[in-house]
Amino acid sequence: MVNKIVLRGGSGSAAPGLSRATYRALHFHRRWQGAGARLPKDAPVAGGDVAAFRTDVLEGLSRPHKALPSKWLYDRAGSALFEEICELPEYYPTRTELTILEKAAPGLAATIPDGAVLVEFGSGSSRKTRLLLDAARQLAAYAPIDISQDALAAAAATLRQAYPRLEVTPLRGDFTHPTPLPEPYSDMPRVGFFPGSTIGNFTPPEAEDFLRRARGLLGEGSLFVVGVDLRKDAQVLEAAYDDAQGVTAAFDLNLLTRINRELHGSFALENFRHRAIWDAEKSRIERPGVSAMALERGFIHWKSLSGKLATSDGASRRCATLQ
Ligand SMILES: C[S@@+](CC[C@H](N)C(=O)[O-])C[C@H]1O[C@@H](n2cnc3c(N)ncnc32)[C@H](O)[C@@H]1O
Repeated sequence: MVNKIVLRGGSGSAAPGLSRATYRALHFHRRWQGAGARLPKDAPVAGGDVAAFRTDVLEGLSRPHKALPSKWLYDRAGSALFEEICELPEYYPTRTELTILEKAAPGLAATIPDGAVLVEFGSGSSRKTRLLLDAARQLAAYAPIDISQDALAAAAATLRQAYPRLEVTPLRGDFTHPTPLPEPYSDMPRVGFFPGSTIGNFTPPEAEDFLRRARGLLGEGSLFVVGVDLRKDAQVLEAAYDDAQGVTAAFDLNLLTRINRELHGSFALENFRHRAIWDAEKSRIERPGVSAMALERGFIHWKSLSGKLATSDGASRRCATLQ
């Protein structure tokens, strides 16, 4: 109005008679109407993550033995597929660890100090955590760290409802480079939780590095509960990471869909197939020496790879050659 931006309408603090849709307040910045607006800011997920994702993909797929950090598997679809994997008949780790935790939780709880904060690395749905939370009612707070914003938000909402006295502070980020815990937690006793045999995704030097950083975050003398899988028959392991219904394959291949979507890649998914091979020497599911993308849950065999990726300057770069 008269070249000025005005606020239209009234509020509870408008003078009687002025609270109508046609009323225009000129000096709305003075907040006579008690009005204001909050604009949501994009979560740091977007820009920062895409740049880091691009860097990792270009670097990882330019190597002779192509490899990508498994954290990129967990976009919204990846996190949902992982939950499906947990229910598969072949995927024994979740069921087994839940049974172990059910038995071990009271003993673990007895060692947890009053008013402690439970810090979980790669919390996903926090399903296993509930066994600890149920047994250790003296826990004051829970700080789940996960790369997946969707998994983190869903788990935090469920836990806040189920444990109203527990302070839940989701921390989105990479647990291999954790940021310091929020201020109130630095004075509280801290307990680390790292189930799922996720530690098995690391090479031995990476695992050492992770444990060193976790110790730095948790502090000297803290408790740390780590779930580690033991060796099994190759058949059992390979089936667990390459199930008959193809859910694990979909989980791995979703990474290519993500590259296509977020980095404008051009990978034709039909040219890829998923396989899981147990490497007894390294005690890992993968196969080095094959043109493969070693992933957490097996690997994608690069049968015919002719993908291109857009680089940050908008140019297109062939990031891998036909093997
Ligand atoms: C194998 S799942 C395990 C989930 C859950 N802890 C369990 O035991 O069922 C790995 C979880 O860690 C998260 N994750 C993987 N790599 C990560 C990283 N570098 N930093 C943070 N979270 C990560 C994933 O989003 C996923 O929720």
